[in-house]
Formats: sequence, C-alpha cells, structure tokens
Amino acid sequence: MSGHGTPKPMTSHRCGPLQGVAEVPGDKSISHRSLILGAMAVGETKITGLLEGEDVLDTAKAMQAFGAEVVNHGGGSWSVFGVGVGGFAEPENVIDCGNSGTGVRLIMGAMATQPITATFTGDASLNGRPMARITDPLALFGTQTVGRKGGRLPMTIVGAADPVPVRYVVPVPSAQVKSAMLLAGLNAPGKTVVIEKEATRDHSERMLAGFGAEITVEETDEGRVITLTGRPELKPQEIAVPRDPSSAAFPVCAAIITPGSDVLVPGIGLNPTRAGLFTTLREMGADLTYENERTEGGEPVADLRARYSPNMKGIEVPPARAASMIDEYPVLSVVAAHATGDTMMAGVKELRVKESDRIDAMAKGLSACGVTVDEGEDWWQVTGLGPEGVPGGATCASQLDHRIAMAFMVLGMAAQNPVTVDDGGPIATSFPIFEPLMGALGAKLIHG
Ligand code: S3P
Repeated sequence: MSGHGTPKPMTSHRCGPLQGVAEVPGDKSISHRSLILGAMAVGETKITGLLEGEDVLDTAKAMQAFGAEVVNHGGGSWSVFGVGVGGFAEPENVIDCGNSGTGVRLIMGAMATQPITATFTGDASLNGRPMARITDPLALFGTQTVGRKGGRLPMTIVGAADPVPVRYVVPVPSAQVKSAMLLAGLNAPGKTVVIEKEATRDHSERMLAGFGAEITVEETDEGRVITLTGRPELKPQEIAVPRDPSSAAFPVCAAIITPGSDVLVPGIGLNPTRAGLFTTLREMGADLTYENERTEGGEPVADLRARYSPNMKGIEVPPARAASMIDEYPVLSVVAAHATGDTMMAGVKELRVKESDRIDAMAKGLSACGVTVDEGEDWWQVTGLGPEGVPGGATCASQLDHRIAMAFMVLGMAAQNPVTVDDGGPIATSFPIFEPLMGALGAKLIHG
C-alpha cells in the first residue's frame, strides 16, 4: 500500500493506572522472514502467530507476485507453498512494499540472483530511504539496478542470470543488508560470506538453518563471519512466530511511567540481539521482571511484568547496545523524559534513516511537549523532568512512522496535558491492535 490515506489524528490523555495482560502481536522481523523463506522452500510452510500488520501483508502479496501461493487460514495462521530456491516467477506488475524497509530490502535480495526483473515502490517514507546500501553489494553477485537519484525507489532490479558467490563486509550495522546478502547468496553457487563488525538481529541466520540451509557463524577478530552454501533445497517448516519485543516496548514503557500501573506482557521473544531496551530500562531503575523464562522454537522467551517505576534515573546507553534496541529509542526517550537526570543515546546514526529521521521526529515533538533534547549527527540526549513532570499539550508529527506515533501516544498517558499526533494511521503497519490493546489496559486514546 502506498501511503496511508487520510491522516488520522489521535490524542492520548493522561490516564489512571494501566493494568492487565497485553498480548502483543507477532514479531515483524520473523514474520517477514517466514513468508520469504517459505516462498523459497519446496512445499508447504505453516506459520502461526504471523503479524498481520500492513508491512507483513505487503510482503505476503509480494511473495504471491513472485509465484508462491500464500493462504490466510484466519487468526494468524497462514500457509506458504514455496517455489524453491531459484524458482521465483517474474512479477507482472510493480511490487509495492508500502512503508516497509525490511520487506523491500529482503525481497530485493531474494530475487537478485534469479533471472527475472522486478520494479519496487513504496509510500513517501520508503521512497525517501536509501537503497544503495542494498543494491551496491547486490551488484557483486551480478545484479543490475536502475533507480532514482540517490539510490531511491521506485527502482528496477535485474536479477543476475549467472550469479557468483560473494564475500562482503557489511559497512553499517544493518540486519536488513546482511539478510538481503544471505537471501541473494541462496541462489549463488558456492559459498557466500557475509561479515558484520557489530552483531545485529540474527533471525535470518537462525531461520536459514531451520529451513535446512548450510550456514555457519564464527566470531572472529574481523567480526561475525557468516558462511552460507548456495543452492540448497530448503525444507518447509512449521513456524510459531514469537510476540514482538519491539511492540512489547510500548505497553512496558507506558506502565513504567504511568502511576499505579502493573502490566503483564506474555510470551515475548528475548533474543539477545533484540532485548537491549529491557536491559536499559532495568539499568535506569525500572521495575521490570522476566517471569516464566523458557525457550520456544529456538528463541528465548519470557513473560514481562512492568510496574510503575517512580525512581528512574537517566543513564548513558552503551553505543555497543544500539543494534539490539535500534527500534526502541523513540519510546526510550519518552521514558527518559520521565526519569531524573540526563539520558545520553550515542552511536545511533542509523536512527536518521528509518521510517523517519527518528532523532529529528522525537526531538521536535518532545521539545513541543516541554522536554529539552540536544542532538548531534549520531547522538541525542534527553533531560528528564522526573515522574509526572512532562507538560505535554502539543501536536506532534508522526512523519509516516509507526514507532514515532506510538511513542507520543505513550508520552500522553503520563503527561500533564494531552498529546496529539497528526496521523496515527502508520501504527497499522506493525501494531494494528495498538489502540484496543492499550485501551483495554486503561489508556485514553481518542480520535482527533
Ligand atoms: C530489521 C532490521 C532493522 C530494524 C527494522 C527491522 C529487520 O533495520 O530497524 O525495523 O527485520 O531486519 P536495519 O537492518 O536497517 O538496522
């Protein structure tokens, strides 16, 4: 879907204690990968708990356009009948990935070593994001690209008919770049090696191994060296998608800053490459506990219990932790505004090329709500006003970014005055049940 139609302003009013159980939807990263790898396996992959947000639904449509059969059984239960590695058909029309950087970048990788041509587009946010970080390394396989100035969508990818295996050191901490290269490596003969200096989310590596690909990961002085043997026959899987820690972040942070709250968020994936926010919140003094810790489908999982935490202190978030919480900085900055002292977030240049420039979007909205924010190219600092100290009372621009919209809705729950976002529509890309779920806990979210 391109764009989100008419803007839907949304206002969050200060609310009483948030209480109850918050069953957040399936993990977005794992949902995209389940559909794409399912489409590259031979036979039926069964998926339960799939996130049915717009981003993932766009990927499901794309997989159909490349020839896989995708069936929605209802209630988060889906089947993908894959066409095998190298079996993609040429799409008859333009592939619209909507708002999703993960969708478009992973799909570009998956088709880049097949002898087909496809044109990709998205909404205004996605069409402004850098794609050269994907298309430059894909060229090493023999893939050709024609796009707009600055490597922007819409963009046509001509897949390599005779791909060669590649060795590539990923220059930015990006799971999307790493994953695109691994997916492209699937249809290249021989061994493709992808090296990342900093560990990023490893769902692709785990899932490729699960589908039967030959893949090894070594920790070396150079970084994480991932070696994939091309042209495997991927075996269809049964995948139970864990609940998304990046979505859990919103009810967890809302409970931490809203007086009297006590919220249980069950079944959250705590893969160490994703759980940085929860470690950070605990370091700041949050009353956040992990209950019923267990392993499900090879991923660590726990029930998170978050209670109102009036004694939060600002900290310096270690830059080395950035990749494991990259999507959570917007909502962390909301918690930081309610803490005592400064919270420094450095090593976060990547935040400037997400669905929006997230430092800019949060700095503008927080400032309008009475919070002091300082920023540089790859850092920002929020000066806390203490519990119940945030004035609020402003309208903030969500900039076509779901996480910005949700972060400001959380801010309004504990601010002295209501906080409005100009458009809550983008929330549907990753967390379509955000409004009823937060409402059931006690949040006061009003349209307009
Ligand atoms: C994702 C990787 C991250 C993250 C995005 C999902 C993924 O992006 O921000 O929401 O599923 O691989 P980068 O890889 O660009 O850091």
